[in-house]
Amino acid sequence: MTSPRIALVTGANQGLGRALVAGLAARLGPDDLVLLTGRNPERVAEATARITADPATRSRVEGRVLDVTDAGAVTRLATELDERFGGVDFVVSNASAMLTPDRSQSEQADDFIDVANGGAHAVLRSFPPVLRPGGRLLVVASSLGTLGNLTPGLRPLFDGASLDEVEKALESWRTALHAGTAEELGWPRWINVPSKVAQVAAVRAVAAERRAVDLPADRLIAAGCPGLIDTPLSRPWFTDFSGAQTPGQAAVAVLDLLLTEETDPATYGELVRFGQVLGRYDGTPPRLPEGLLIP
Ligand SMILES: NC(=O)c1ccc[n+]([C@@H]2O[C@H](COP(=O)([O-])OP(=O)(O)OC[C@H]3O[C@@H](n4cnc5c(N)ncnc54)[C@H](OP(=O)(O)O)[C@@H]3O)[C@@H](O)[C@H]2O)c1
Repeated sequence: MTSPRIALVTGANQGLGRALVAGLAARLGPDDLVLLTGRNPERVAEATARITADPATRSRVEGRVLDVTDAGAVTRLATELDERFGGVDFVVSNASAMLTPDRSQSEQADDFIDVANGGAHAVLRSFPPVLRPGGRLLVVASSLGTLGNLTPGLRPLFDGASLDEVEKALESWRTALHAGTAEELGWPRWINVPSKVAQVAAVRAVAAERRAVDLPADRLIAAGCPGLIDTPLSRPWFTDFSGAQTPGQAAVAVLDLLLTEETDPATYGELVRFGQVLGRYDGTPPRLPEGLLIP
């Protein structure tokens, strides 16, 4: 008899996160447990009730309040799951704070970096040690996370960096944002871009340290790019949504990577989009839609 599999998704009360929980709950078995986590108790309870009532749901689903900016809470949950179940099988770091063109990027930077990057780092520090053999840990990033999206002078800050060095680079960017010097130093105006580059660099940093122990145990640590999804987060930033996916559609490729029977070592530590590994230096500093001005 195999032991129940344990899955956890952060920022899962709406959007892609909720669709990932719904997909896991439909694809795992009745003994398995999916933890739907989010920062707000009411929104977590509502999303959990909705997925539990879905006829496609097969596994158990449990709502848990988890604010990913509280690194201590992330560690406590990892420890609790290790004590309760002997580890975790599937972990997705998905949470993101809202970002809007209506307010200045520097005004929104602290919250955005603390959730997207602080949250990913907390998960990357606390969960790999409790990932069971065959386990998978994904950080939901974006194709904006390749180094080519930065000006060449900034790429060495992240290329081959350790997790501590990624944190240092993020802090120097944060300081520049608040000092009003970020643009003259070459940082992209849209803060989503350096944040995604840093998420991918953080995944690479942890994967580089763990590769030798993870690959023989068929564990996967990777960054995932879900493609454009129609959610409140993306709505203000793009004009053409004709090719955008629903969260449910976008969840499919991420779940395929997560639930893959055997890891492809080529995906370990990489940024993967629809099953394909993206080149480390892909991308060019992005251009926003015509007429979109970011304060
Ligand atoms: N949408 C796209 O086109 C697209 C494309 C590429 C990558 N992605 C990535 O996909 C992920 C999900 O995006 P989405 O579009 O589904 O966004 P979303 O609908 O805005 O969902 C973000 C989720 O993160 C949660 N969150 C915010 N702060 C949190 C915190 N401190 N602790 C825990 N959870 C927190 C939100 O909870 P509340 O409801 O409480 O705010 C919400 O559930 C993000 O990492 C995003 O960058 C999205």
